[in-house]
Amino acid sequence: MYAKSVPSAEFAQRRQRLMETMGQGAIALIPAAPERTRNRDTHYPYRQDSDFYYLSGFPEPEALMVLMPGSESPYTLFCRERDPLMETWNGRRAGVEGAVERFGADAAFPIKELEEKLPELLADRERVYYAMGYQPDFDVRVMEWLNKVRGKVRAGVRAPREFVSVDELIHEMRLRKSDAEIQVMSEAARISAEAHRRAMEVCRPGLTEYEIEAELLHTFRRHKAVPSYPAIVGGGANGCILHYVENASLLNDGDLLLIDAGAEVDLYAADITRTFPVNGRFSSEQRAVYELVLAAQQAAIDQVRPGRHWNDPHEAALRVLTEGMVELGLLRGEPAELMEKEEYKRFFMHRTGHWLGMDVHDVGNYKDGEQWRTLEPGMVMTVEPGLYIAAGAEGVDERWWNIGIRIEDDVLVTQQGHRVLTDAVPKAAAEVEALMGR
Ligand code: GLY
Ligand code: MN
Ligand code: MN
Repeated sequence: MYAKSVPSAEFAQRRQRLMETMGQGAIALIPAAPERTRNRDTHYPYRQDSDFYYLSGFPEPEALMVLMPGSESPYTLFCRERDPLMETWNGRRAGVEGAVERFGADAAFPIKELEEKLPELLADRERVYYAMGYQPDFDVRVMEWLNKVRGKVRAGVRAPREFVSVDELIHEMRLRKSDAEIQVMSEAARISAEAHRRAMEVCRPGLTEYEIEAELLHTFRRHKAVPSYPAIVGGGANGCILHYVENASLLNDGDLLLIDAGAEVDLYAADITRTFPVNGRFSSEQRAVYELVLAAQQAAIDQVRPGRHWNDPHEAALRVLTEGMVELGLLRGEPAELMEKEEYKRFFMHRTGHWLGMDVHDVGNYKDGEQWRTLEPGMVMTVEPGLYIAAGAEGVDERWWNIGIRIEDDVLVTQQGHRVLTDAVPKAAAEVEALMGR
């Protein structure tokens, strides 16, 4: 079970807001995440569906939230019943009693009554709010229930006529974080920062990527957190592989180490990347590229404030990176033209950031019609430029090879500008070297 750090009243407010948008005559069906088999009878660690949790705070699988604005029971939760034998084997359950008493449901029914109850609930509702396509098995069941209602039209029952995507509505709400959410995210950021500092402190040539990964996990679990995504711990050439997760190699003297790792607290993610020398001292080439990525990141972070557009930080980073690559001799030509032709993509092939929240690549549209979205207080994004110079890069002197650098922080848009939630991990080259003590 998760320690609930968003107050119950806030979950109720979220449901209320969604129901106001849905209006009278609507019904929303929002299922919990299914359990997934890892192999034979072993499951992956259970992770609740973000949308379901955002509205319910309910941590268990085999549950369905039903919202019916204006009805006698606006919030009905179907969930597993208490069962001493099952609970002895598989852990505690809230049960229908707990759903009402602890999770604010107006009514709760055993999940096994779904087949019987759902057609009744759908009857005479005009619109169904449902996120199609995420759980294909559940989609089929929804259609079956709908057809059962249609089968009763001669008895005077009306079947819903409209299907509406509920996910867009929930995602728009999730994009703007409340004070309570910002506190949880700050906690995830604090724990992640501690893990990255610890990795810097223990790193030395002769250790392995997986030993460093173990240090990260140690810090996460010590604080009850879990990883928000599989950690990337890539030394030397591995730092140039964007989604390197094997974390299986030896760390060599003279190489850089790129770590992209974040903690998840109460289903809220942090996402930090730091790159540092395995032996604690940057070489002059490593330092030159590092300073450039850091300058690009700072220029991008400076763009994060209300009124700026989603793409402004990315464009600021591209300008700094492209000009800097020309100065270092990695690219040849006029910076403006190189930007126009997207030549920087040879060494910087991803975007500068993404929304951050319950999902590491969080929900929320990046465009508002044709325009990049305007930043507003409460939005949280990552700022993560990088440069990746793989061995053999054409026209690039060998001394630059295998330098892969990304610097990533989590940035909250505030009324005044922004707050970097992850600034407890050093990133100035001198500060990194000082922490590594070498
Ligand atoms: N850790 C995934 C990302 O940085 O986007
Ligand atoms: Mn990221
Ligand atoms: Mn990351």
